[in-house]
Amino acid sequence: MHLYIVTGSSRGLGAALVRQLAVPGNAVVGIARRLDPALPAEQWTLDLADPLPAAERLQAWLRANTGWASATLVNNAALLGAPGPLAASGLAELSAALRVGLEAPALLSRVFLAETAGVARRRLLNISSGLGRRAMAGSAAYCAVKAGLDHLSRALALEAPDVGIVSLAPGVIDTDMQLQLRGADPARFPEQARFQGLKDGGQLQTADAAAADILQFLARPDFGKTTIADIRDR
Ligand SMILES: NC(=O)c1ccc[n+]([C@@H]2O[C@H](COP(=O)([O-])OP(=O)(O)OC[C@H]3O[C@@H](n4cnc5c(N)ncnc54)[C@H](OP(=O)(O)O)[C@@H]3O)[C@@H](O)[C@H]2O)c1
Repeated sequence: MHLYIVTGSSRGLGAALVRQLAVPGNAVVGIARRLDPALPAEQWTLDLADPLPAAERLQAWLRANTGWASATLVNNAALLGAPGPLAASGLAELSAALRVGLEAPALLSRVFLAETAGVARRRLLNISSGLGRRAMAGSAAYCAVKAGLDHLSRALALEAPDVGIVSLAPGVIDTDMQLQLRGADPARFPEQARFQGLKDGGQLQTADAAAADILQFLARPDFGKTTIADIRDR
């Protein structure tokens, strides 16, 4: 059996990834705060803003469930927070965005790398963003999280050369996150019109199409050769 662990599985890109991965021969574990009863996968309802218990649960589960032909962790969950200047952000929301977007992937990656050491083929896919590579006003924490995820991936690739490790910008996808960006107050978020334009111009991919592209990318024999990647450069 091939193991896939996908965070942020309840909607958007994560749900589409889980739906497409749930085929015979794969065991899929989804992690999010909410369940999607329609998803054909084992789902753990966990708040990744409190990442330590989530990492401990994954650790115990991986110790109890072994013998995988391959193992893949997809750190997909992220929390954008209301677009606006950092100085006007709620403290609790800011803390949660940093924890979900960076602390949780670091802890889950640590557990994954340690507990799957005997598995022949391992892949760690961090879902990053173009905003980890280009700064944008109104989403400072999100930009920092994604830049951090890129650099975490670079360092892990040096530590674990036997594991395919990629931090991937997935393109622009028509999910709740885009809705939040174009629905933001332009007085607080200077790029609101650009995000509205992406929707109006039909430039957003569906979550299903984005997931299919990402899974094709994941299946490439050279997955991990380039640590920092953008799906649009394929
Ligand atoms: N959409 C885009 O255009 C775009 C562009 C670049 C990068 N990305 C990246 O792609 C990934 C998926 O984005 P998306 O657009 O699918 O986002 P989304 O629609 O907002 O979905 C986010 C997912 O993360 C989960 N999540 C959020 N907070 C959580 C928490 N505290 N604990 C556990 N799970 C939590 C959500 O589940 P619950 O709410 O049930 O917890 C949901 O399943 C993210 O890493 C995002 O940064 C997206």
